[in-house]
Amino acid sequence: MDVKVGAATQIQGSVRTAGDKSVSHRYAMLAGMAEGTSEFENFSSSADCASTLACMEALGARVRREGNRVEVDGVGGNLRAPSGELDCGNSGSTMRMLSGIIAAQPFESVMTGDASLSKRPMRRVIEPLQKMGARIDSHDGCAPLKIHGAKLKAISYEPPVASAQVKSCVLLAGLFADGETTVIEKVRTRDHTELALKAFGGEVQRDGDRVSVSGKQKLHAVKAYVPGDLSSVTFFLCAAALFPGSNLVVDSVLLNPTRSVVLDVLASMGVKVSFISVEDQYGELIGTMQAEGGIFTGGVIRGAQSAALIDELPAIAAVAPYSANGVEIRDAAELRVKESDRIDAVVRNLRAMGADVQEFPDGMWIPGGQKLHGARVESFDDHRIAMAFAVAALRADGETTISGAEAVAVSFPEFFEALGKVTK
Ligand code: S3P
Repeated sequence: MDVKVGAATQIQGSVRTAGDKSVSHRYAMLAGMAEGTSEFENFSSSADCASTLACMEALGARVRREGNRVEVDGVGGNLRAPSGELDCGNSGSTMRMLSGIIAAQPFESVMTGDASLSKRPMRRVIEPLQKMGARIDSHDGCAPLKIHGAKLKAISYEPPVASAQVKSCVLLAGLFADGETTVIEKVRTRDHTELALKAFGGEVQRDGDRVSVSGKQKLHAVKAYVPGDLSSVTFFLCAAALFPGSNLVVDSVLLNPTRSVVLDVLASMGVKVSFISVEDQYGELIGTMQAEGGIFTGGVIRGAQSAALIDELPAIAAVAPYSANGVEIRDAAELRVKESDRIDAVVRNLRAMGADVQEFPDGMWIPGGQKLHGARVESFDDHRIAMAFAVAALRADGETTISGAEAVAVSFPEFFEALGKVTK
């Protein structure tokens, strides 16, 4: 599907998004395993989280859904052997995190995904799970994964890449292992699994860079409101950054500090960010904030910041040519193994719009002060690329056509409607 986006002059109004994708995945998985009925308001409307719910149903949980209100009857510990393949769709989070759970079950299951997911690296979860005693067949380290359930043993593991999905996979597998399973993370990644486990009555210990769980824990159902998705909101914040005087209020959004680094970075680049209210829900911070556009300066993103901003980098890169001083992104090679090669996708689309950009194996340098023109750009079947270039289009001369724009449904089906409401 083609979507055309024209130039705008201002971002004004308010935005509230459906629940955060990362939190929704974890709540759905833990609710499916827990005892009792969990109830979620504002559950993610993404296709990715629908994949997780469908997998949990295939494993014996019962799911009732009305819009973004979701109820899950958990199995109380004993998942059921699925009658068919577990289809993870486009969702790396579903495949990587759920593989930790099903590797410990007394049955065999096969996890599949779409063309993009079938190319993404799965050795990062296969290796630690094998160390725990799991038996997994893959297609040269990629999906489909055939997982022969086994009794797992606890391990201590330091993932070679900074990845919350890998950490979560090992911790979730650890729930079924004898003894204490520990993940050592040298670079801090999002901590939703740890917080969600505690919300469901589990025990998790953090000691510096070590996170541990012990096996044989009982999980209990919860009732929760899922905070709005900050990674989705980032597209609107980047849009506001483009126009001095823009004023955007964001309601009920996730402000977890392991995710909100994007707010610090945008603030350092000239976006005025203020908080109207913040509260705690099961350890997750949720609040209402305001963003005002000023002089968008640009800057350098590298090291641990790149890992913390990995989902937000395409949006920042897409608006970087309009910054005063340019944006340099380094230490972000992980972008190459996301739903698309996001470095290549951003570079190609920026060049199609007439931008000067230099590509590195682990990032890019995008000089500032550039004028872009509308062009035909591609989503590369990647939701974040489609949304990033809808935002880049707002400051270009002429109209931009995004082909494959339906990809937005993977994380944010309402994106174009929401963007239309705040662009003037
Ligand atoms: C996610 C972790 C990140 C992120 C992904 C969601 C999660 O992936 O890119 O969109 O929910 O844990 P990695 O853990 O592979 O960095």
